[in-house]
Amino acid sequence: PRPVILDGDPGLDDAIAWLLALASPEEVRVLGVTTVHGNVGLPLTTHNAGVTLALAGAQVPVHAGADRPLVRPPLTAASVHGDSGLPAADLPEPLRAPEAEHGVDFIIRTVRERPGEVTLVATGPLTNVALTFRLAPDLPALLREVVWMGGSTGGGNRTPAAEFNALADPHAAHIVLGSGVPLRMFGLNVTMQVIATPERLDALRALDNRAGAVSAELLTFYAGVYRERYGLDGGALHDPVAVAAVLRPNLFDMKPMSVQVELQEGLNLGRTVCDLYGVTGQPANAQVAVGVDAEGVFGLLLERLGRLP
Ligand code: BDR
Ligand code: CA
Repeated sequence: PRPVILDGDPGLDDAIAWLLALASPEEVRVLGVTTVHGNVGLPLTTHNAGVTLALAGAQVPVHAGADRPLVRPPLTAASVHGDSGLPAADLPEPLRAPEAEHGVDFIIRTVRERPGEVTLVATGPLTNVALTFRLAPDLPALLREVVWMGGSTGGGNRTPAAEFNALADPHAAHIVLGSGVPLRMFGLNVTMQVIATPERLDALRALDNRAGAVSAELLTFYAGVYRERYGLDGGALHDPVAVAAVLRPNLFDMKPMSVQVELQEGLNLGRTVCDLYGVTGQPANAQVAVGVDAEGVFGLLLERLGRLP
């Protein structure tokens, strides 16, 4: 199995993404999880990381990372993820306390121990990833790849121009996009096609296990927001898409291109400007998802969650 570090801001879709990874030991070995500010504040994302691991019965270390963006003030998304980040009743307590080592130090140490092997799956603002690249300039060349849920080839979800993870730390995204690291980007243009519809929630409940029941409960809360705000028939499974892409790359159509993020304050702050047609002549710095087999992604999630307690 491929060694991975999961970096994110759980957040209900991060939690479901991590469950998908933890239920897939043939394909991935989760070396550790690192948390970042984002959907809710760092103390909550770190607690929720422990809760998520407990749901999977997984003994994996949790390392807290950056508690704020590099430059801008923090941005949260509690209206989408609930005040706690995991809006469900009767969640388990973490099996163990977070480690003392900072998430950024953990990533640097772990990647250097396994040159060329580690995949970093980032499903939140890229603050931790950018900090590792600044502290350890050798890291982009030592990572196998970064797989990021964030950005969009089109419009945004937090502003008309910007996706939440890109907007929550655009300077970090700028550093990662300019780092030379092998990068696969899964933006809203694909993740907004993978919807947790009422039929799919029924299928999760029918798994008849705790992982399925909790996922359905979280996604029921989320569906209310998505119906009202985006007019969709359920919540978008953004972060599980990134993990699915590690497990089953053939579920996606990818295109290499130049991607830059807007750093100017104003209407377009945080927009990922994707050169879909190569009009700039800039070399590609990312493989960008342009198509998704949504049924395939959900089928994989359902099958894997069914393996959990
Ligand atoms: C992204 O923003 C967060 O709210 C979700 O967890 C996901 O990572 C979608 O824009
Ligand atoms: Ca997230």
